[in-house]
Amino acid sequence: MSDLITPMSIRVAVTLRIPQKIAAGRLTAQALAADTNSDPDVLERVLLHLVSAGVLTRDDGGWFGLTRVGDQLLVEDDKGVNPDFLDLGTVAGRAELSFVRLPDVVRNGTIVAYSAQYGSSFWEDLGKEPSSAAHFDRVMAEGMKKRVQEIAESYDWGALGSVVDVGGGNGTLLAGLLRAHGSLRGTLVDRDAGPATRTFRDAGLSDRAEALSGSFLEPLPLGAGGYIVSRIQSDWNDAGVRTILGHCADAAGTRGKVIVVDEFAAEEGVRTDSETDLRMLMYYGGKERTMEQVRELAADVGLSVTSLGRAADWTIMELSSTAM
Ligand SMILES: C[S@@+](CC[C@H](N)C(=O)[O-])C[C@H]1O[C@@H](n2cnc3c(N)ncnc32)[C@H](O)[C@@H]1O
Repeated sequence: MSDLITPMSIRVAVTLRIPQKIAAGRLTAQALAADTNSDPDVLERVLLHLVSAGVLTRDDGGWFGLTRVGDQLLVEDDKGVNPDFLDLGTVAGRAELSFVRLPDVVRNGTIVAYSAQYGSSFWEDLGKEPSSAAHFDRVMAEGMKKRVQEIAESYDWGALGSVVDVGGGNGTLLAGLLRAHGSLRGTLVDRDAGPATRTFRDAGLSDRAEALSGSFLEPLPLGAGGYIVSRIQSDWNDAGVRTILGHCADAAGTRGKVIVVDEFAAEEGVRTDSETDLRMLMYYGGKERTMEQVRELAADVGLSVTSLGRAADWTIMELSSTAM
């Protein structure tokens, strides 16, 4: 559980697509090195470690193969990218390397490890690397696709008339809501409107949905019936969450709703997903929060909980202005 040797060797193998190449019949270290523009001797030593670790096999003739563990590394999404964040060629794949900064973060408490490691924030780096941004969006969308139907059915979205999906990614959630509620209109605000614009166009929803490039750290479009904050709060520290919810509250006014869609931590002191909690800490200075912690941050910006619903394993928390 404590060495970095096997995890880094696996990541190198995934990044170089070694499992795919072995599956395609490139079986020797020489052939794999030639295919991946790598040093044959060093690559062989890494592959031999993966044999020791039970990921690869090697026969007497020096031919490598995949074990059942190694087979799992063949997984790819439809764009040929490993969706498990193991590919060091993507921003999200490299992000976990910021854990080398954990000692500094533990001592200091406020350093954002990713930014300290790479000199710019996770979101800035996604902005610089479109292929990494697309990879991140696709992984986010995979999780959303499994739940979008239930989210659409678990709340009366149609009654809102119009919604703004705040940090809505590539538009998977908003498109699902609009499909299920024929009279609903939607605006999505994210760093780059391009991916969601394409989603809406491909779904034939461009007449009811638009995407805007912008920041939820700035004022949001005014006057929608609902402001959706889906899987955003854990990416930010408490001050950031107050800013984002505060902009939603300002734009919603006394008549609109702010709707947080998220998976909350079970209760304070019990981290149901401690790995995600530490990733949020290291990548963004964020955290996994309980429902109560989000309720308190919302109260700080004049919002109170007016309904709670469930959609699969996620919660739909409706917030309204306390000035009503
Ligand atoms: C964890 S993803 C959630 C995406 C989507 N809401 C969902 O539930 O699938 C966080 C999103 O926040 C967006 N984001 C990050 N910083 C932002 C900012 N300052 N303004 C707007 N969106 C931002 C990211 O681009 C990303 O789409």
